[in-house]
Order: sequence, then structure tokens, then C-alpha cells
Amino acid sequence: MSTLFVNIKELVQVEDRPKKMVCSTDMKLLPTIKNAYLLIENNLIKDFGKMENMPKFNSVECIDVSGKIILPTWCDSHTHIVFAGNREQEFIDRINGLSYEEIAIKGGGILNSAKKLQATSENDLYEQSAIRIHEIMKLGTGAVEIKSGYGLTKQSELKMLRVIRKLNNDFPITIKATFLGAHALPSEFKNNKKEYLDIVIQEILPIVAKEKLANFIDIFCETGYFSVKDTERLLEASATYGLIPKIHVNQFNAIGGVQAGVKFNALSVDHLEEMRNEDIETLKNSNTMPVALPSCSYFLSIPYTPARKMIDAGLPLALASDYNPGSTPSGNMNFVVSTACIKMKMTPEEAINAATINGAYAMGLEKTHGSICIGKKANFIITKPIPSYGFIPYSFGNNQIESVYIEGNLV
Ligand code: NIG
Ligand code: FE
Repeated sequence: MSTLFVNIKELVQVEDRPKKMVCSTDMKLLPTIKNAYLLIENNLIKDFGKMENMPKFNSVECIDVSGKIILPTWCDSHTHIVFAGNREQEFIDRINGLSYEEIAIKGGGILNSAKKLQATSENDLYEQSAIRIHEIMKLGTGAVEIKSGYGLTKQSELKMLRVIRKLNNDFPITIKATFLGAHALPSEFKNNKKEYLDIVIQEILPIVAKEKLANFIDIFCETGYFSVKDTERLLEASATYGLIPKIHVNQFNAIGGVQAGVKFNALSVDHLEEMRNEDIETLKNSNTMPVALPSCSYFLSIPYTPARKMIDAGLPLALASDYNPGSTPSGNMNFVVSTACIKMKMTPEEAINAATINGAYAMGLEKTHGSICIGKKANFIITKPIPSYGFIPYSFGNNQIESVYIEGNLV
């Protein structure tokens, strides 16, 4: 089955040869073709180019998209989409003056979500999460990473990971799974962190690895959660199972999580609201992608990742949503891209690069996702008639998406 899209006002993020990622001043470059065509066959991109050079294609379905822009679907490399219930009450508590940390200390936060998730059946958890998967696909996301971390017991962590696997089997969107057993310390282990980490490492991790339930390993490396020492212990153990680190660091405090990540060859270090010069230095000459989560900064009213400083220092940057019930109850990558432009002073080109090819890299998907390239997945967004791709972040909060194709199928 072949479909040909013609008269595309602008085809965005085109590549002749797939690149791994973009960094530094290259992030300002967003290759496009004006007045273009795009041919897809089955689930892959088959050809694209300028209308004036379009060869004659036989027996293809032809769709005229005059006035509309096509860009690759978003690659959301950091989410916690599998969760039970919500935390609206904590939202009100924060409006009334409590901080995210104060709520967590009182037993709310991640532990609140864990309690709800433990009491939810696997089927119900799947149904609740499937609604969100469908929602983000409609918003233009074509690949997503999902973490465990609201189970915090062997049974419930495995339940979460099995739900993630079933979602990956049932939906066309590509899903990568991350084991985040070390997300918070369950209250029963309040005075015995070592014992909880022993369980994560000795009891849960081997099953996760044996049943191939996760691609990546994560830990919340933060004051009051897990230390750099805890992080190194976990990453060392997971390395023996071949699990690649993608870790939560520098959200509230910079305590050396970036260094631990780079030391263990993390694919990404995520959050980075608090960045010291030495953290930027460490990331230079590493293969670790820094990932910013501006919707989390927006929702919690905490600092934004210093994107300008990092990109100007020569680093790459990816953008992700962090979709979760506590710090970011939104998986809208269009809003993420807007917020990166508005609050982090990224240009539309930088933000689109960060949310497509760099997001793909941060999930190990850069060979198949993140750009319009022959042989990559036919994953793309068709906008409404809009003046330019910069209109997407400019018109923040509005939906400029007309339709989304994932693996060649209309969502
Ligand atoms: O990335 N910071 C750690 N984990 C999540 C939030 C978890 C929650 O509050 O439920 C985050 O923001
Ligand atoms: Fe997160």
C-alpha cells in the first residue's frame, strides 16, 4: 500500500543520510523542503523531494495537502504514563502554599501514586494508561519511553512493566520501557534504604532482565531520595544485565548525578533544572543526551533547564514531556516545544530538533524515528493550514495538528 502526499507547503526535518543527533549551533539548522511531496509505502518512508522533481508514481493513493506542513512525529523520551488515578488534591495543596517536597515528606507524592497503583488491577491499569497513549498519539507523539516506579514492590513494579509491554504490543506507537524501581523509598523502608535497594537489585532486577521487561534503568538521584552512591550501586548492578541508564538527576539539587550518569555511559540524564558549570563540562565529550522537561518546570513553578547556556556551550539537548500524575499531568509535546521557546529561549528550529531527532536518540531510536528520511518509519504530523512551522510553538496552547500518521496509518 503506497500513499503519496503532494503540494506539501513545507516538509520539515528532512535527511538524506540519517544522523545520530544534533548539538550546539547545528541545533539552529532545521532542513526543510518547500513545495514538496512525500511517498510512503506500508509503514515506511519511501521517497520525498521537491514537487517539480516528482517522478510519476503508479498505483498510489494521492492526498493533496496544499497549505499544510508535514513534520516527523514527536519523540517523547521521558514519561511515566502508566499510573493509577490522579493527584488533583496535591495540585490544590500546592496552590495553597505547600511545595512538591513538603507534600512528598508528608507521604504524598510518588508514595501516594504507589498506594493507588498497588490497589489497581493490571487490567484496570492498562485501560487507564491506554487512554493516555491514544491521547498522546492524537497530539503527534510517535515514539515514547515509559517508566515503572509507581509500584515500589516486586509485584507492582512487574505489573507496571507488563502493562507497558502490552501497550507496546497493542498500539502502533513505538514504546521503550524503563525500570524505575528506585523512584522513592516506600515508607516501610524509611529507615532502611539499603534493604529496599537490595530488593530492587537482587529480587526485581533479575526478573526484569530475564523477562526482558525493560530496555533502560532509571533512579531518582536527588536529596531525600537516592544518593549518588545508591545510583552508582544500581547502575553497576544493571550494567551486568545490559540495561542502559537513563536517570533522573538535578531536579531540585545538583549532587553529582550527571557525573554518575556519564561514568556509567547513560543514554540520557533528565530534568537538569539545577545545572552547575561542572555538570555542563562533564556532559561535553560524552555520548549522554541531556533531556529537559519544561512542562514539569511549568507545573511545579521550578527553574527551567538552562537550555541556552547548555546549547551555547556546545551540548545537544532533547525535550520530553515527563507525563506523570504528580509533577506533569500533561503529555502534550506541542506545549513542551512552545514552552521551550517561550521560557527557555530556544528557537523553533532548536526546539523541533530537540523534540524529534534528539528525543529519538534519547530512546536509542535515531535509526528509525525522528526525521523524514527514506527507510525510516512513516511517522509524521500534518498540520492545519499554517503560515510556517514556527507557528506551532508561537500559537501556544492551540492545536495546529490536523492529522497524525504512525507507521503509515492515520491515527
Ligand atoms: O520526573 N522526579 C521524579 N519523578 C517524577 C515525578 C513523580 C511524581 O511526582 O509522581 C518526575 O517529575
Ligand atoms: Fe520523570
